[in-house]
Amino acid sequence: MINIVPKPYYIMEKSGVKVLDKNSAVSADERLKDCISAFSDTFDFIGEKNYSFDGKNIDKSDVKIVYDKSVADEGYNIDCTEDCLKISVSGFAGLLYAAMSIKQTVFFQLQGSDKVIKVPCMDIQDKPRYAYRGVQLDESRHFFGEDNVKRLLNLMALYKLNRLHWHLTDDQGWRIEIKKYPLLTEIGSKRKDTNIHGWHSTDMTGEPYGGYYTQEQIKDIVEYAKKLNITIIPEIDMPAHFAAAMAAYNWLGCREIPCEVHWFFGGRVPLSMGWRDWNRSACAGKESTYEFIFNVIDEITELFPAEFFHIGGDEAPKDEWKKCPNCQKKMKENGLKNVEELQGYFNNRIAEHLEKKGKRLIVWNEALKAGNLDMSVVGQYWTPKNDPNVKKEFKKGRDMIISKHQAFYFDMCYCQYPLSQTYKFEPTDSIVPNGCEDNVLGLEGHCWSEWIADVDKLDMQLFPRALALSEDAWSCKYDKNITDFYARLPYQERILDCLGVNYAEPEIADPKGTLHRKHEVQKWMMSDQDREYRRNKELKLKKCK
Ligand code: ACM
Ligand code: ZN
Repeated sequence: MINIVPKPYYIMEKSGVKVLDKNSAVSADERLKDCISAFSDTFDFIGEKNYSFDGKNIDKSDVKIVYDKSVADEGYNIDCTEDCLKISVSGFAGLLYAAMSIKQTVFFQLQGSDKVIKVPCMDIQDKPRYAYRGVQLDESRHFFGEDNVKRLLNLMALYKLNRLHWHLTDDQGWRIEIKKYPLLTEIGSKRKDTNIHGWHSTDMTGEPYGGYYTQEQIKDIVEYAKKLNITIIPEIDMPAHFAAAMAAYNWLGCREIPCEVHWFFGGRVPLSMGWRDWNRSACAGKESTYEFIFNVIDEITELFPAEFFHIGGDEAPKDEWKKCPNCQKKMKENGLKNVEELQGYFNNRIAEHLEKKGKRLIVWNEALKAGNLDMSVVGQYWTPKNDPNVKKEFKKGRDMIISKHQAFYFDMCYCQYPLSQTYKFEPTDSIVPNGCEDNVLGLEGHCWSEWIADVDKLDMQLFPRALALSEDAWSCKYDKNITDFYARLPYQERILDCLGVNYAEPEIADPKGTLHRKHEVQKWMMSDQDREYRRNKELKLKKCK
């Protein structure tokens, strides 16, 4: 059985295989010459000299890569017979995803040194449901570094996820070099300790912590992502979750008071220290704040070609704004009725600055409360509680990204949000009003890293949830079926094992036992190899306990 995640739009398995080896000839349309790495990087055993772009030997080719402008953006068609593997695409992304689908089907044959692969004969017509298929990574609370980010990008591409929302700043650390404001990293990237053991804990590691990316490293990562059809969207969280910046430049606050990069994640620690106003917003009244933000944005947008820029905008306390003479003056001058509208004004100033660069702003759904938010701004719906503003804004025609907590907060434990909850999520069931689906840009899964200190834990929270997310965001909603998805998981687990991914075992990923209750169904859908593998693994797990 051909096993591809996310499930293609249309797939028909046929009998036979097309054998490819180092002598296979590939002919590709001249118009796809610049895109060919999307295929050749994956099947690197086929030498460069075997490729031709002049159409001369096309009938004798083992692989034909055809340009077809009617194929959807990021989509691809595969027609594989014993004579020829034919791939039709309209661009780089489609060719990459055709390669990723084939890679999954022959994954284990690609591991040896003398590579000969047997591509199953099949017809596939595939295209994404949503253009935005994102993963968010919080590098402020914990810093994973260049190699781990590239590893994550590789895994995302394998499952056709195409946006990395990079949370680079928060109260607990500023992680990107800004040349105009060196203290952002000199002071803002370091904290004196780190809170451990969860929200109710006051335990600490007792060690200082730090790290940041230079602009050169960022450029390298952005370029790496581009080759995997992944756009990286930077997030500079503001006006709140901004303590690392305010620790470096105290004047960014309404009150110019000393503050530190937080070494705790909220919870009990600040209260135990009698520290009530630890969650503060930058001053939205002083022009110097805007000048600072625009300068930071100007440096960052030079590094990221993304069409979007994220400024968070969540959980912004406004008590200081109510008392601040600068904020009050700004409200009066601009006829702003309340502090919510002041946040709307703050966001609109940034949206306007970005618009001059051809970019759009993204904010979390709390920022939709301000009725004066410009319609160009994209909302991102995360809150666990129902937010009535989301439906209202959808009806007004606002574009939205959906990251609903209960389905897509991957930092949460599986016992609260099991894998099946992510898989079964359907935005049109409850969130998106009728007729507004075109305003859903896509879906995103989140890895907030307060309690994710290393890549092993990151893997565990993200996998296999990322596979469910990829199917939610890519596959046709009428084709989604949890039993069928679970039946395809064992093969994908073998791939993840081979890639050294510490995914959550079925017992952890779906602790209520859905996987086990479906065991009978799985039995006939699993290959002998998968079944043997699962059995050995279960034995191993039993021994560990
Ligand atoms: C959020 O989780 N505060 C966006
Ligand atoms: Zn102020």
